[in-house]
Amino acid sequence: MTHVKNICCIGAGYVGGPTCAVIAYKCPDIKVTIVDVNAIRIAAWNSGRLPIYEPGLDEIVFARRNKNLFFSTEVEKAVNEADLIFVSVNTPTKKTGVGAGYAADLAYVESATRGIADVAKSSKIVVEKSTVPCRTAESMRTILEANSSDDIRFDILSNPEFLAEGTAINDLLYPDRVLIGALQTPEGLNAQKALVEVYAHWVPTERIITTNLWSSELSKLAANALLAQRISSVNALSAICEATGADIDEVAYACGRDARIGPKFLKASVGFGGSCFQKDILNLVYLSEQLNLPEVAAYWKQVVDLNEYQKKRFVSRIIKTLFNTITNKRIALLGFAFKKDTGDTRESAAITLCKNFIQENAKVRIYDPKVSSEQIYMDLSEPGIVDNTEEVKKHITITSSAYEAADNTDAIVIATEWDEFKTLDYEKIYDRMNKPAFIFDGRLILDASKLQNIGFRVHTIGRAAI
Ligand code: NAI
Repeated sequence: MTHVKNICCIGAGYVGGPTCAVIAYKCPDIKVTIVDVNAIRIAAWNSGRLPIYEPGLDEIVFARRNKNLFFSTEVEKAVNEADLIFVSVNTPTKKTGVGAGYAADLAYVESATRGIADVAKSSKIVVEKSTVPCRTAESMRTILEANSSDDIRFDILSNPEFLAEGTAINDLLYPDRVLIGALQTPEGLNAQKALVEVYAHWVPTERIITTNLWSSELSKLAANALLAQRISSVNALSAICEATGADIDEVAYACGRDARIGPKFLKASVGFGGSCFQKDILNLVYLSEQLNLPEVAAYWKQVVDLNEYQKKRFVSRIIKTLFNTITNKRIALLGFAFKKDTGDTRESAAITLCKNFIQENAKVRIYDPKVSSEQIYMDLSEPGIVDNTEEVKKHITITSSAYEAADNTDAIVIATEWDEFKTLDYEKIYDRMNKPAFIFDGRLILDASKLQNIGFRVHTIGRAAI
């Protein structure tokens, strides 16, 4: 059996970076090199200020960097030295061409695979870490096999990543499960064992699930679809709550106490964001359509549609409450990341909210503890939102505290569930706001009756106004 001694990870992003840093941390006997074509990102990984924010990540990286953990742009060299290569590149939704808007863009996976095939001088285990459509491993295998020879063979595994941003390090150190799919051939099973051995350094073996390649690939899409479906289900119920006087937190709690349902992932919100849920469901929708399963495609598509509806519904509630116009009104948007404890803004609900506020000519004051001003300008300057940064700057002000954001505003909108928003001095904030002062809690994190006692008019997702 192969014993892995040298790992290369292609893609130093939100997945490749933390995942392989934890492998290096837990496997001091293995050399781990994380490579990327993005030199700025690699320089940041090699600096005192890492390119992504994750609680606990700095400690892990600083403990192993330049010992058995390396970050480099020398892709070819790292590939050649490695006996196992993770492909952890981005797989965004295709923007143009066949399947645009649904299918995953596999250009980066293919380019990484071809890169491996072109330069490898010894046998490699190639591991799909990126989230990909079911049977992508087949295309990768075809490319790799076309380049294998008597003395160089490539074995391919699927090892999807289940970490959640914001809790990535904890998820990696104590995973619910690690999934490793392989071709059911002696060589495939041998490669699977080699990767099991890597994870077994710290993951109890009963938590390491081995399956065939296609089950492993589909399980990742399925897990994300099921998680997003729970959120859309609870968000659909939140609309009923607002119209009836039921309280979504109480409903979710009562339902979650049923052991068959369970309490997790039942929090209503302004809508899910992040780089994965929407992309992976659309990918599943596309796959279902390709398999001529239109009813299945429509079923999963509804999860994404409901998410869009939830964001629109929240914006409509805000405008309606603010006397049907927000033109020239000042709105404080608290939170811009797609969830707490991350600086990632990909598909963040805050972007949609902000875009709508800008279109209505409101003046938006934004505060987020981890997202940089440049990132906010970039997200809002994308074509289709507002054409350029100068135009965006006319509508938004980025502040360095929640208090500053709330100054002289008509309304506060909570877009991200950062803990610090729970403990702000709301009396102080109230005093500095225009009256009547409104709070729209899109994350259900605030004590509505306390705020009401201060004088706020409070609107919470999934509850009638108080
Ligand atoms: P990312 O965009 O943060 O990182 C991908 C990196 O790959 C980029 O830095 C890019 O420059 C690099 N890259 C692309 N092609 C390359 C090539 N040929 N050679 C070298 N570097 C190359 O993406 P992220 O978020 O890390 O996601 C990676 C994959 O993991 C995606 O398929 C995603 O769906 C999946 N995933 C993401 C999770 C998340 O929470 N972000 C969780 C689980 C899976």
